[in-house]
Amino acid sequence: MRIGILGSGLMGGKLGTIWARAGHEVVFSYARSEQKLKKLARDAKGKARSGTPREAAQDADALLLAVHWSRVEDVLKQAGDLSGKVIVTCSLPMNADDTGLVIAHTSSGAEALAKRGPKARVVSAFGTVPSEVLFGVFEARRKARRPSLVYCGDDASGKKTAAQLIRDVGFDPVDAGPLRIARYTEPFTLLIAQLAYAGGGPELAYRFERFGKTH
Ligand SMILES: NC(=O)c1ccc[n+]([C@@H]2O[C@H](COP(=O)([O-])OP(=O)(O)OC[C@H]3O[C@@H](n4cnc5c(N)ncnc54)[C@H](OP(=O)(O)O)[C@@H]3O)[C@@H](O)[C@H]2O)c1
Repeated sequence: MRIGILGSGLMGGKLGTIWARAGHEVVFSYARSEQKLKKLARDAKGKARSGTPREAAQDADALLLAVHWSRVEDVLKQAGDLSGKVIVTCSLPMNADDTGLVIAHTSSGAEALAKRGPKARVVSAFGTVPSEVLFGVFEARRKARRPSLVYCGDDASGKKTAAQLIRDVGFDPVDAGPLRIARYTEPFTLLIAQLAYAGGGPELAYRFERFGKTH
């Protein structure tokens, strides 16, 4: 796949690197320094390069939106027309000092994003795990017990693309249903962050287990 990274920080930098190592063509974009984008592309090896958000979006099979909520408008404006594009978002609608959600309960960041462009195919994924765990999950991808990763969206083919990208990182994709379920997954991340950063260690993933008769 060709993947455009919109926001090459902790999440975008690591996920883009992993996807390049998994064989995808990756364009890193949107950081404050072009040198950083170039270095990310160099270090990722494989088919990775740096570019502008517009270049990242061009011909992309999927875009990862990984910026602070306050930068979403800016990066999307720079990316240009995204109608029909699959936008995988890990961006949480956090306030300026990252202490709370600015959209919750009756909507979600992912839904707000989908409303912005009626033709965008938004999938919410990766926002429920800390960036610190991503390389560890990728390294453990050949083990039998993979950690879960919930995702949701309204576009079936966009979700199929996202599920593949989730598998490529080393998670077991768990389809949580339509995009409005992001109302539950986004606050769930605050629990994960509490467990990750309040003492237990940030290399944290989660796994759902089903018991009893499933058919
Ligand atoms: N970090 C996590 O563990 C985690 C987990 C789950 C969800 N999330 C969510 O994922 C999203 C991304 O988080 P993150 O931790 O990856 O953020 P981050 O490390 O701050 O990355 C954001 C990227 O945006 C770039 N950027 C910011 N302002 C810019 C500007 N004015 N011009 C150009 N580029 C600019 C940053 O540039 P620089 O590289 O130059 O700083 C960076 O590359 C957030 O919405 C967050 O809530 C994060």
